[in-house]
Amino acid sequence: MKVHQIEVGNMQNFTYILEDDDTDAAIILDPSWDIEEIKKVIEKNNLKVKYVVNTHHHFDHTIGNDALVRITGAKIMQHKDSTLKNDITVSDGDKIKFGNSELTVFHTPGHSKDSICLVGDEKIFSGDTLFVGNCGRVDLPGGSTKELYHSLFDIICKMDDKLDVYPGHNYGSSPSSTLGKEKKTNFVLQPRTEQEFLEFMNSE
Ligand SMILES: [Fe+2]
Repeated sequence: MKVHQIEVGNMQNFTYILEDDDTDAAIILDPSWDIEEIKKVIEKNNLKVKYVVNTHHHFDHTIGNDALVRITGAKIMQHKDSTLKNDITVSDGDKIKFGNSELTVFHTPGHSKDSICLVGDEKIFSGDTLFVGNCGRVDLPGGSTKELYHSLFDIICKMDDKLDVYPGHNYGSSPSSTLGKEKKTNFVLQPRTEQEFLEFMNSE
């Protein structure tokens, strides 16, 4: 799977175009702003975009949906707890297939109720659940420190250290990382009990 990571807008968002290695199939994660740039990559590589997938419903990850659907005819895919318009809903454990590529959906609430991470081909697309060097905020509607603790420590930290981490924003020292490196160096991923994590997040 080839990853095109494009920084868009003025909130350091990342849009991803994921290209299957064997066919012209592709999916787009979190299209927002800079539609022309996304369009350029699609046209240059002759991609057939099957789905627009949103890692969660926040506007900075979704405002390009309609434009991309108009350009590509792709179906919009979101977690079933999303409150936005979509064509296909996914739940924890579902597979997203395009060409010979496959990503597994992990429901990781905490930043928002409908947050998902996508995992496959030794990569994790972590949305606003995990950033390089930090994690998503929990103080917006639907946010929950308790749920984020479970998502980070019981789900993501149990995954393979080798996974490349592709976050939803360019907030860290590098645009991507590995899960092993994040477990070692990301201050929010240092071992804590749930209670310690709640206190730690409240003191941030
Ligand atoms: Fe967000």
